[in-house]
Amino acid sequence: MSKEKQKDRVEKQPKDQIKSKWPDWLFLRRPPAFLDPIRRLFEPPHRLIGPYVKKGQVVADLGCGSGYYTLPLTELVGSEGKVYAVDLGKKCIQALENKAEKRSFHNVEAHASSASDVSFIKDRSVDFVLANGLLCSMADHRQSAVNEIKRILKSTGQAYISLGAGPPFGFVDRAEWEQILEEFRVKQGGSYKEKWAVVSVKQD
Ligand SMILES: C[S@@+](CC[C@H](N)C(=O)[O-])C[C@H]1O[C@@H](n2cnc3c(N)ncnc32)[C@H](O)[C@@H]1O
Repeated sequence: MSKEKQKDRVEKQPKDQIKSKWPDWLFLRRPPAFLDPIRRLFEPPHRLIGPYVKKGQVVADLGCGSGYYTLPLTELVGSEGKVYAVDLGKKCIQALENKAEKRSFHNVEAHASSASDVSFIKDRSVDFVLANGLLCSMADHRQSAVNEIKRILKSTGQAYISLGAGPPFGFVDRAEWEQILEEFRVKQGGSYKEKWAVVSVKQD
């Protein structure tokens, strides 16, 4: 293919789907799955999600990686509940599907897709959204992802949103973080120093 044609093809792709020459886990700041046992020692998954998730609920893990939080979420909601797992990385979605199958978890619906368009999830159908380290890893379309979180959350639902890091290691600076939180009702956390917040949709 000519260089001109190649350039044209790349420009027509949504920016957040352009493949990097670097390994996914480095470019997308995803901790590699082989470090999960060490991560569990200082970031036990149930400690973060346990207070927000109940049996039978519908939850969405946006930017789920290879499922560090997804599988504990499926345990918490149980067979009556459902977990949508969404990540741009096809390989990590595949790894997640394999893990779920091995453990006979049938309540996970995994999508290799951008969090900026989760139209396969119905409006106001989700009790809990986890967006752990998602927005800071999104090169663009972050506002669309925020809109999607607002669209899918039930009026009684809540979302845990966090930034792994600010610039230069992440894409969200203080002004954008504050702007994002303006769109929700902040229930816990919220300072830029903390870089996490539990939010719900603002009622009209
Ligand atoms: C810092 S990792 C967090 C992974 C996981 N939430 C965790 O806590 O282990 C950020 C994840 O966001 C994903 N990501 C980046 N841009 C995305 C997008 N536009 N849509 C969905 N996922 C995206 C990356 O592939 C990566 O797995």
